[in-house]
This record gives sequence, structure tokens and C-alpha cells, in this order.
Amino acid sequence: MKYKLAVIPGDGIGNEVIPASLEVLNSLSAKCGFELEYQHFDYSCEYYRKTGKMMPEDGIDRLGQSDAIFLGAVGYPGVPDHISLWGLLIPIRRAFHQYVNIRPVRLLKGIESPLRSPGEIDFIIVRENNEGEYSNVGGRIHEGTPFETVVQESIFTRMGVDRVMNYAFTLAEKRRKKIASATKSNGIIHTMTYWDERFEALSMNFPEIEKSKFHIDILCAQFVQHPDWFDVVVASNLFGDILSDLGPAVVGGLGIAPGANINPEKEFPSMFEPVHGSAPDIAGKNTANPIAAFWTAQMMLEHLGEKEAADMLMGTIESLTAEGKVLTRDLGGTASTSDVTKEILRLISKQ
Ligand code: NAI
Ligand code: MG
Repeated sequence: MKYKLAVIPGDGIGNEVIPASLEVLNSLSAKCGFELEYQHFDYSCEYYRKTGKMMPEDGIDRLGQSDAIFLGAVGYPGVPDHISLWGLLIPIRRAFHQYVNIRPVRLLKGIESPLRSPGEIDFIIVRENNEGEYSNVGGRIHEGTPFETVVQESIFTRMGVDRVMNYAFTLAEKRRKKIASATKSNGIIHTMTYWDERFEALSMNFPEIEKSKFHIDILCAQFVQHPDWFDVVVASNLFGDILSDLGPAVVGGLGIAPGANINPEKEFPSMFEPVHGSAPDIAGKNTANPIAAFWTAQMMLEHLGEKEAADMLMGTIESLTAEGKVLTRDLGGTASTSDVTKEILRLISKQ
């Protein structure tokens, strides 16, 4: 098999962890007998500074010709974050109907959780990725006067809510058959009561699944106090975004947190990007942890159907953390980005 990958390193540490991941992908493709053809795109904040746009007019069409998109992170001091998000990530997620954002939270062997007795932690956050609170419907009137008024609308459609929930229920069916819904229907009385209503209605089709719902505030507390309770957690765009920084924080931080923006019907390419941003504070120093990007590449291999390579990569990441010898600073080690990459390549070559 041969796959066309659109590669967008983006800004900051994206330019370190993505090239490292391509080395790892190359070694796996040689080992497992498939081909990867990379097409590199320099869409980023740097591109924005040169052109006034995050990507060219035909950017979406060009990316659409790939089997998957592999992205580092975008964001750079001096370019407002809403420009990088609305100029690149959100258009890609929406144009390609990547309506599910999957973010696994798993405590790997050898990784120290900041929790004293974390127990087994292994759950998946399923975040709605196309609508919800991240909407550009709204506006501002009476600007600069005492009557200044700002309105920001949330958009919840039946199709949008149902499809992400159905995905989450189906995922739970394949796992430990537990699902938790993140809500806030006590305060947000229109959209969140609707969210609850659809969750109840759809759960009828999955009678064997144990379901629960939590208001987002207590859910955040339970992520810290009882992370072992969870299997699949389904959340709206905003709540899912927040939970997917909190979840990884209890299992070792953003340096290892992977993510995927999925178009489940495979009508369009899906996009794979680690949860972390461009980390300008450590960019260019060869200290970024590449594991988040490697694990993200692993999710991409799985999505493409290269199970052998995906399993080999996950096993390799787990042996590296279990060994605990070659870890970056965020995990308490002293290794550089290239040290970790070399060690992963060495472990793969031994298999
Ligand atoms: P961030 O994830 O870039 O960094 C947060 C903290 O985690 C920093 O201290 C950073 O050094 C550390 N960190 C992140 N990834 C790491 C890694 N792989 N290894 C070791 N340490 C790591 O989030 P922040 O600082 O809020 O945002 C920085 C920029 O990134 C902003 O411009 C923001 O808009 C953008 N951003 C982009 C995202 C994307 O492209 N998907 C996601 C989140 C933020
Ligand atoms: Mg986020």
C-alpha cells in the first residue's frame, strides 16, 4: 500500500517533533512494507507574516488530495491565536468534516503521574470538533460606547450532536462499555439540556453501555480524584478542549498527549496533531518531547489500516517509557528530542 501524507510542521516545536516523527514513520514503513509519500506544506504563522494568510486560497483543495494530514502545531508570539486557529486548524477540521476529535488519556508504564495513587488510567476523550461553542456567529454593536454589546452564539445541531455521540457510544462498545457525558445543563439551559436530551435518546440504542453524566465542573474534579472511573468521555467542543489538557496532565503532561481529528466516513482526509501547541518557550532548543507526535503518528497508522506498524510503534513507545532511561525534561529526564528519536529508532530496528 502507498499513502499520500500532507505534512504541516507549523510553528515552534512543530518543526522539531514532526521531522522526528517522519524518521520514525520511515523506519516503520520499511519494516512493515508500505510506502509513504510526503507532501510538505509550510502553512504556519511564519507563512502568515509573509502573505497575510495562514494558507493560500487553494490550501484546502491541495490538502484534500492526501490520505491523511499530519500537523505539528501553529501559533507564534506576535500573531494572535485566533488568527492561527481560524485561519488554518478550524477550516481544515470543518472542510473535511473531521467532526470527532479523539484524545486518548493513558498512564504509560514508567510515567509518573502527579497524583499520589492514580490507579489504572485509560480513557478516551471524544470531543465534538465542528460546531458548539467554537462558532463565528455573533458580533459587536455600539462599539466604544458605554452600550458596547458583544454576542457569541453556540451552535448545536441535531446532526452534529448525534454523530459525535454515536461515535462515542460505538467506541465504548468496543472498549469497557462505559460512557460519561460532559454537560452543564444546570446553567446553560438551552444547548446543554439539548445535549443531555440527545444523550438520553441515543443511549437507548446502546442498552449494554453504562452511562453517566457529569456537569463539567465536577467532571474536572473527578478527572483528578478518580481518573480510573472513565472509559469514554464525550464532550462538546469547548468542554472537550479543556478536558483534553486536564486529562493528559494527570498522566504525564502535554509532552505525551496525542490527538486525531477524524472524518469517520473517510470521505475526506483526517488530520493528526498532538494536543500541545507550538511551545515558544522551548522551541528551537531540541528539548521538546516528541512522544506526543509519535503517538499521534501511531493513531494515523491505525486510521490508515497499518495495524502492524501502529502496534509496533505503540509497543516501542511503551518500552521506552517503561525503561525510563531516555526521557525528556518534562518527564524528569535529561534527554533531547533527538536522543528520544534515536532511541525509538533503535528499539524499532531491533524488532
Ligand atoms: P503549549 O502546548 O504550546 O505549551 C504549554 C506548556 O507545555 C509550555 O510550557 C510548553 O513548553 C509545554 N510543552 C508543550 N508541548 C511540549 C512538548 N512536546 N514537550 C515538552 N514540553 C511541552 O500551549 P500554549 O503555551 O498555551 O500555546 C503556545 C502557542 O501554541 C499559542 O500560540 C497557541 O495558540 C498555540 N497552540 C496551538 C495548538 C495547535 O496548533 N493545535 C494547540 C494549543 C496551543
Ligand atoms: Mg486545546
